[in-house]
Amino acid sequence: MMNEDEQQPNNEKERERIISFIREGTVIDHIPHQKIFDLVRILALHKNTDGTISIATNLPSKKCGKKGIIKVEGRFLTPEEASKIAVICPHVTMNTIQDYRVAQKINLTLPRIIKNIVTCNNPHCISNHERIPTMFHVLEESPLKIKCNYCEIIVHREELIIP
Ligand code: CTP
Ligand code: ZN
Repeated sequence: MMNEDEQQPNNEKERERIISFIREGTVIDHIPHQKIFDLVRILALHKNTDGTISIATNLPSKKCGKKGIIKVEGRFLTPEEASKIAVICPHVTMNTIQDYRVAQKINLTLPRIIKNIVTCNNPHCISNHERIPTMFHVLEESPLKIKCNYCEIIVHREELIIP
């Protein structure tokens, strides 16, 4: 008979194995647990009809207290998707898996200028009327505070509009 420890592994690595390894695709790791469902929305995972998607949250992590992991089988993220993730939660790790091996590991970082990702909150801003890419300057990273390049409105993390 299994004892309780075996059924509910406490060790970080053991817990990660609760979600299967994938053969090919993307593993987003070290996600702050409160951000996990924001990423699901941003990556439109609810609309992903091919390939297994595994989402685990409240996993213990030495790096960030509690963390989440998202594994998307058979899908590789575009640079634009990676940038969106970095804006919502900088410092996550994006692993590309090929033939069951980690082929690429990127520690995402927030760029100093965020281009074409965030919609300006100011309805009168030129970026909401002309066909020009939105552009924000990062003033503070944590908590996030950014400034529109065009109308100079300041946008805080909780006001972010990411379509
Ligand atoms: N992984 C997976 N399928 C594979 C290989 C790896 O799902 N075929 C997952 C692992 O479970 C882990 C992540 O991809 O969540 C990164 O794998 P690896 O670099 O081996 O793990 P760590 O060394 O713990 O990563 P880090 O140093 O970034 O914490
Ligand atoms: Zn603006």
